[in-house]
Amino acid sequence: MTQDELKQQAALRALDYVIEGAIVGVGTGSTANFFIDGLATMKDRIAGAVASSEVSARRLAGHGIPLLDMNDVEELPVYIDGADEIDTSLAMIKGGGGAQTREKIVAAVAQKFVCICDATKKVAQLGRFPLPVEVIPMARAQVARELVRLGGRPVLREGFITDNGNLILDVHGLAIHDPVSLEITIDGIVGVVTSGLFAKRGADVLLLATPDGVQAFE
Ligand code: 5RP
Repeated sequence: MTQDELKQQAALRALDYVIEGAIVGVGTGSTANFFIDGLATMKDRIAGAVASSEVSARRLAGHGIPLLDMNDVEELPVYIDGADEIDTSLAMIKGGGGAQTREKIVAAVAQKFVCICDATKKVAQLGRFPLPVEVIPMARAQVARELVRLGGRPVLREGFITDNGNLILDVHGLAIHDPVSLEITIDGIVGVVTSGLFAKRGADVLLLATPDGVQAFE
C-alpha cells in the first residue's frame, strides 16, 4: 500500500467524525485534500466548511462546498487536518505546507481536533521534521538569531510567501524534549507569527493509517 493510499484511508475514516448539519473545519495538505474530496460526497449534509488555507478553500469551493469566514463562526464541533509529525501525547509538528497560523486559529476554535496521518508520521519525539516558523519579513534575521540561540538551524523557505504575506523559517536540529514549553518560547519571540508546534492545543484524536487498517488514538 502506498503512502497516498494510507493518507486516503485515514482521511476517509475522518468522515465518521463530521457532525451532520454542522460546520466542519478543514486543514491543509495532501491528506486534507483526500478528506475534502471525501467530504464532497456528503456536502448536502453539512452546513459548510471553514478552510485553514487559500488552497483548501479553492478545493472546497471546487466541490461546491459552502465556505464560511472564521470570523462568522462561533461553534466549530470538529477540525480535521494532517500533520508532519505526531507524538504519543498527540502533540504535533505542522506547517509543511506553510499554513500553520490559520491552522492554529481554526484548531483553537474547534471543540475537537482530529488528526489524520499515515503511519510514518508517528514519532517518539518531535523534531526530525524541521519546525516551520512563520515570521514577519522585517524580523526574519532577528528571529533567525533567536532560533540559533535555542539550538536550531533556521533555513529560509525559498520562494514561499504564506497566505498572510509572511515568510517561513524551517528550523532544523531542535531537540524538542518539552514541546509545550518550546512552543511558548518560540511563539513569544518578537516577529514570530506562529510556530508549527501544536502542543498547547494538540490533537484530541489521531486516526493513524497502517497497512493493517486505521487505528484511532484518543
Ligand atoms: C500544512 C500542514 C499539513 O497538515 C502537513 O504538512 C501534512 O501534510 P501532508 O498531509 O501533505 O503530509 O501542516 O501546513
